[in-house]
Amino acid sequence: MARLIGRDSELAALSRGLTDARRGRSGLAVCAGATGTGKSTLVSTLIADADNVAMRVRWASGLDSPEPPPYWILRQVLAGDAEPWDGDGGELARLLTELGADSGILVVVEDIQWADEPSLGILAELLRAGTGRFLVCATLREPDAEPSAGWLARGDELLGAPLLEQRRRPLCVGQAGPGLDGRRDPLLVVVGHPGCAGVQQPDG
Ligand SMILES: Nc1ncnc2c1ncn2[C@@H]1O[C@H](COP(=O)(O)OP(=O)(O)OP(=O)(O)O)[C@@H](O)[C@H]1O
Ligand SMILES: [Mg+2]
Repeated sequence: MARLIGRDSELAALSRGLTDARRGRSGLAVCAGATGTGKSTLVSTLIADADNVAMRVRWASGLDSPEPPPYWILRQVLAGDAEPWDGDGGELARLLTELGADSGILVVVEDIQWADEPSLGILAELLRAGTGRFLVCATLREPDAEPSAGWLARGDELLGAPLLEQRRRPLCVGQAGPGLDGRRDPLLVVVGHPGCAGVQQPDG
């Protein structure tokens, strides 16, 4: 893999998220930025880190459609584990928890702004419950993509706070630059648990 230029504080925040997940503190990391700002590159580095510590890695991507099929995301994540599947979302939640039970699991969700609502609902529920050993690492293409109805309905719930307000909430442990609202920073990394009570200061 080509060497990353910069991104040290973002990688450090993401890698803390991996460690937390393996210790039983599941969480969410969001790499947000405009098209081509290096979101997927950052995530691929995190995938390599997870591989190095023998964490499971599963990958899914949102579908560029206003109404993606229900469970589109989770069915990709659990492909091979959830077949045949009877349409029960609870079964997907249980499988995901089980998969991470031993060494933890990194769940990559690319283009989460196009995710389906039922998958987002389950991920939010799992994160709220605070059980399991997983890190959900999502990329969020902003401001270039028209979000799915599911993201519009569930995005704030998943993040625990509207992304644009995250600096006022205890969600952020790693952040580069002034954030999306300033439109100057190419990438924002938010790592945390939506129900997180402890405040950790941003690095940058
Ligand atoms: N930190 C970095 N150092 C060096 N090159 C980088 C870095 N981040 C990204 N790149 C390069 O920039 C290009 C775009 O990166 P990438 O595909 O990760 O962006 P993206 O934000 O995922 O784009 P998209 O919104 O289209 O999904 C790639 O060629 C990648 O190799
Ligand atoms: Mg990408």
